[in-house]
Amino acid sequence: MFKIAVIGTGYVGLTTGIGLANFGCSILCMDIQEDKISNLNKGIMPFYEPGMEEALKVNMACNRLNFSTKIAEGIEWAEVVFIAVGTPQGIKGKADLSAVMNVAELIGKSLNGYKIIVTKSTVPVGTNEKIKEVISSFNTKKHDFDIVSNPEFLREGRALYDFYHPDRVVVGTDNPRPVETIRRIYRPLYLNEIPFVFTDIRTSELIKYSCNSFLAMKVAFINEISRLCDAVGADVSKIAYAMGKDGRIGGKFLHPGPGFGGSCFPKDTEAMKMFAEEVNVDVSIINAIIQSNNTQKEYMVEKIKKRFARLKGIQLGILGLAFKSETDDIRESPAVFVVKRLIEEGAVLRVYDPQATENAKLVLGEKVFYAINEYDAIINADGLVILTEWNQFRNLDLLKIASLMRGKMFFDYRNIYDMAEVENSSLIYEGIGR
Ligand code: UGA
Repeated sequence: MFKIAVIGTGYVGLTTGIGLANFGCSILCMDIQEDKISNLNKGIMPFYEPGMEEALKVNMACNRLNFSTKIAEGIEWAEVVFIAVGTPQGIKGKADLSAVMNVAELIGKSLNGYKIIVTKSTVPVGTNEKIKEVISSFNTKKHDFDIVSNPEFLREGRALYDFYHPDRVVVGTDNPRPVETIRRIYRPLYLNEIPFVFTDIRTSELIKYSCNSFLAMKVAFINEISRLCDAVGADVSKIAYAMGKDGRIGGKFLHPGPGFGGSCFPKDTEAMKMFAEEVNVDVSIINAIIQSNNTQKEYMVEKIKKRFARLKGIQLGILGLAFKSETDDIRESPAVFVVKRLIEEGAVLRVYDPQATENAKLVLGEKVFYAINEYDAIINADGLVILTEWNQFRNLDLLKIASLMRGKMFFDYRNIYDMAEVENSSLIYEGIGR
């Protein structure tokens, strides 16, 4: 089976490595971070992702999955090289492509025969052409290679499931030579009749941004409707349900919340805005998505402020810090945004998250008290604020909460509770748009 090198051991790289190892390929996952690779070699994951550690260990035991920091050697060994390094937000919101370009240079220097280079990282339109140029400029022995754009659509928290059950696989190439190999690598998906979209590289790059921006737009849209609902006294849940029944709209990604976050939607909408500006195209919808999401995050704080004469000295129990459930990721987390703003307003916070606390400590430091569980977080609180929709927050003992808190405010900013049920426990319910 194919010898595949995967460079970058973040969500995309590790999921690709483990997923393709499960498809029977021989995988070498590589990263420049020594401690990460050393831990992975011991079967220790660098982040929390359900089901991943078990899959990691199974594939390592079968010797289909190995880890190394010797990237040049790994490239020489491989027939196919997947680039899965990060493309964080750089200056003025542009995607920072330095890691990708460093990898391209290394690939160029390490080519020792024909190889297929597959870009999984989310990169702005035209980046794969630049990758090709960089590889070519260091490829002094003039070995053949092909570039394939193969964006990843996995969600954190469901990464492996999404890898095995993608809605589609997108493959962008500028010549037909690598296509058969890609088809064979993804053979199990092909056999399962997952749709494959074969296209040119630029289209493939833009598909990824279009999908993320569209999904971000759905979230921003329903959040805007929720603000309208608050103002006019309508129920956003019913609106989302009714909208979702229209097959042209679809019910997914219409859950109101404190705004979208994570390592993708905020960065990708910003990057799309930037590369559209570079080619002088007005993308007013993209600009509005970003603006509207910022408004939603601040709106959460405004809603809390309205309930108290002043926030100074008010004690709040915060449930959830991760940008969504089933992850320990706090990158661009609206929960962290709200927490920081509440601290600025003088509120005293006890916070709890089932997985993200250690990451949160790195950004919040000593400014909050880290509770050991949900109930510890709300002791003596004037209010409770749910910011992440963890399953374990969905069935809290409301009477116990009412007895532990000194106040009554129950801010459900993921709309996961039934208002009547909460109010039956002598708490005052406030959701979003309900
Ligand atoms: C997103 C996309 O869903 C993936 O398809 C894509 O591969 C990935 O970005 C990426 O580019 O790598 P992810 O960032 O893991 O995945 O998270 P989502 O589940 O999409 O949620 C994004 C944000 O929107 C979260 O803050 C979430 O709480 C929020 N959201 C989502 C809502 O507030 N309401 C919804 O109905 C859905």
